[in-house]
Amino acid sequence: MKNQLNLPNEVEHEEQELLKILNKQTLPKHIAIIMDGNGRWAIKQGLPRFLGHHAGVKSLKEVINACCDLEIKVLTAFCFSTENWKRPQQEIDNIMHLLVEYLTNELIDLYAKGVRINPIGVLQELPQRARDALNRAVQHSLGNNGLVLNLALNYGGRLELTQAIREIVSAVEKGKLKAYQIDSTTVEKYLYTAGQPETDLLIRTSGDQRISNFLLWQIAYSEIWFTDVLWPDFRRIHLLRALVDYQERDRRYGGVKDK
Ligand code: IPE
Ligand code: IPE
Ligand code: MG
Repeated sequence: MKNQLNLPNEVEHEEQELLKILNKQTLPKHIAIIMDGNGRWAIKQGLPRFLGHHAGVKSLKEVINACCDLEIKVLTAFCFSTENWKRPQQEIDNIMHLLVEYLTNELIDLYAKGVRINPIGVLQELPQRARDALNRAVQHSLGNNGLVLNLALNYGGRLELTQAIREIVSAVEKGKLKAYQIDSTTVEKYLYTAGQPETDLLIRTSGDQRISNFLLWQIAYSEIWFTDVLWPDFRRIHLLRALVDYQERDRRYGGVKDK
């Protein structure tokens, strides 16, 4: 897989070629991204880690724009995990500040593109300023019908499933549900992604090939695309390469290929 970017006109040419190959009818409905490698990107250039997160915002904007252009239905962006609280307080503060800044600066543009902002995770544990900015963004974009942008914040897949189990058990205790009625559709109803299309494609940048507690249930049959590109270097062309690769895959779901 070619990962490095070349001259701008070469990039543009490749983008055009990739767009020609892409079948608009069979694009993934739901793309999820583990936006990893911000710290390494900064360190490689002798910068503080925080500037890596800062640079990563541009990549997110570009991917959102590309998803809007391609009429992708859902994009889930892993912004902050339940494990990321282990980081130095200064870095956490910087990330939260960046989130508020992003939501404040981009809201009008996101609104104009029809994006509906849908934070997922244990939002009550986020700093008040971040919660306020998220609430504003959610309220503002509530009526939008374009891309649904799931911002995974203080998100953990195990916690999401644990919470779902708690709620299901509670429904059983209250007599609203019988244990034998519980199936995968029931479980899905209790996830943050309830009612959304399946995650078809999961992308992880930075070269690490792991899930890091992201969307554990939802990725059961996702196609996974790993790239060595660090998140702040991720551009529209990388998304297009991932999409072309995705369309070349044979999704069998445990069955056999039709002849
Ligand atoms: C991803 O980049 C962003 C967050 C987890 C918030 P990292 O900060 O994990 O960057 P690396 O993996 O240390 O390079
Ligand atoms: C996953 O990246 C979380 C986000 C991208 C927000 P991490 O950098 O936290 O994951 P690990 O530590 O490499 O597993
Ligand atoms: Mg990381």
